[in-house]
Amino acid sequence: MAAAARRGPVPGGEKRILCVGLVCLDIINVVEAYPSEDSDIRCMSQRWQRGGNASNSCTVLALLGAPCAFMGSLATGPAADFVLADLRRYGVDVAHVVPQPTSCLPTSIVIASASRGTRTILHACGNLQDVTARDFEQVDLSQYKWIHWEARNAAEQAVMMQRVEQHNRARPPEDRVRTSVELEKPREEHLLLMGLGDVVFISKDLAQHFGYRSAPEALQGLRSRVQPGATLICAWAEEGADAIGPGGELVHSDAFPPETLVDTLGAGDTFNAAVIFALSAGKTLQDAITFGCRIAGRKCGIQGFDGIV
Ligand code: FRU
Repeated sequence: MAAAARRGPVPGGEKRILCVGLVCLDIINVVEAYPSEDSDIRCMSQRWQRGGNASNSCTVLALLGAPCAFMGSLATGPAADFVLADLRRYGVDVAHVVPQPTSCLPTSIVIASASRGTRTILHACGNLQDVTARDFEQVDLSQYKWIHWEARNAAEQAVMMQRVEQHNRARPPEDRVRTSVELEKPREEHLLLMGLGDVVFISKDLAQHFGYRSAPEALQGLRSRVQPGATLICAWAEEGADAIGPGGELVHSDAFPPETLVDTLGAGDTFNAAVIFALSAGKTLQDAITFGCRIAGRKCGIQGFDGIV
């Protein structure tokens, strides 16, 4: 986008983390208990919040103190202005936001049950096209130390990831861009992304869709789908998270549940961001997933993201 919040190298030369995926509007309705069908109830509170997995992960990275950037499509209109201003408010670089003037901003109506800590999402994706491999060609890869994709338009995203692989081939390890991809929704077309990327996050939902009953089971079953030397990570809500590292080593972290479960919306995005933050800072896989569980647990104890650090 022309009016970028931050362009060129980050002051001090620190490379950024780029997250590619969705930004949307979440209209969050906090209710005492999940309503029954055809009822007419009052919310305890209602708020607008910027959402979307990649956008939420940027929020968390920014709060953790990592210079980061968001790449995704953005419609025009008041709701789009709200989310763009909010990205800027957190200091997230929006230079690679791609304007889509004829589209509507995807919106989620979220019903957050205060008594159960559940979040039910009703998502309308509108007619917004995701960013393409062509858009991604504009990204100066030398500015980034890590690029993370939220699996969406997988065929295009595979081309983006291959561009990074090619970029890395000609460079010494310290100049390479590390990559990660999150497969959250059980969509067949996303599976091709499992074979790309240095780090692959798979959700509990996806694992269950494949018939796995635990994170370790899912890792064992799906490890052959990631490329040699890649890391596969699976978070499993209150069971914590498990991962299998480049050398086949298995690690586990318990969850860090808050005293009271307040808001689980974006907990997975928080986990991913915290793991990326730690791995990109050179932490071990064990430390990274433990940190991810700790920060995600903290997130579940508060409304929104402010206050996770
Ligand atoms: C949470 C979230 C919400 C958004 C929805 C889209 O992970 O990104 O912010 O409404 O998922 O599926």
